[in-house]
Amino acid sequence: MKVLVINGPNLNMLGKREPATYGSQNLQQIVSRLSTYADSIGLSLTHVQSNAEHELIDTIHKAFEKIDFIVINPGAFTHTSIALRDALLSVSIPFIEVHLSNVHAREVFRQHSYLSNIAQGVICGLGAQGYEFALAAAKQYLTK
Ligand code: DQA
Repeated sequence: MKVLVINGPNLNMLGKREPATYGSQNLQQIVSRLSTYADSIGLSLTHVQSNAEHELIDTIHKAFEKIDFIVINPGAFTHTSIALRDALLSVSIPFIEVHLSNVHAREVFRQHSYLSNIAQGVICGLGAQGYEFALAAAKQYLTK
């Protein structure tokens, strides 16, 4: 069971970036904990972070027929990118959208997502733990 975790723009700055909103853990710490958790539930995890929309799209295309499930925090592309939506539709890989912050409690422009209505589910506002909950849900989805 292969799961790809994708983090979009500015998430490489976690730990330094607005810690009151996004927490104090950096991306490396989050991914290392996530890998340990994935191992413990029998998932093989790959992680990609990019600030470039085309790299995220290429990553999704390369996952076609190789990856069983995607967990994606698209960062600000959530609210802007029809191209990311189309990429996810083009590979037909089930995915969960994750946000560290509760986007619904923030600016109005963060309250629309181009991905949510094609996602298996959306987790937001639970900090880095949201990724772990998404992996647990992926495991359940893939074993049912
Ligand atoms: C985010 C929320 C987005 O609105 C924002 O642009 C981000 C991070 C989150 O994880 O809370 O970059 O996806």
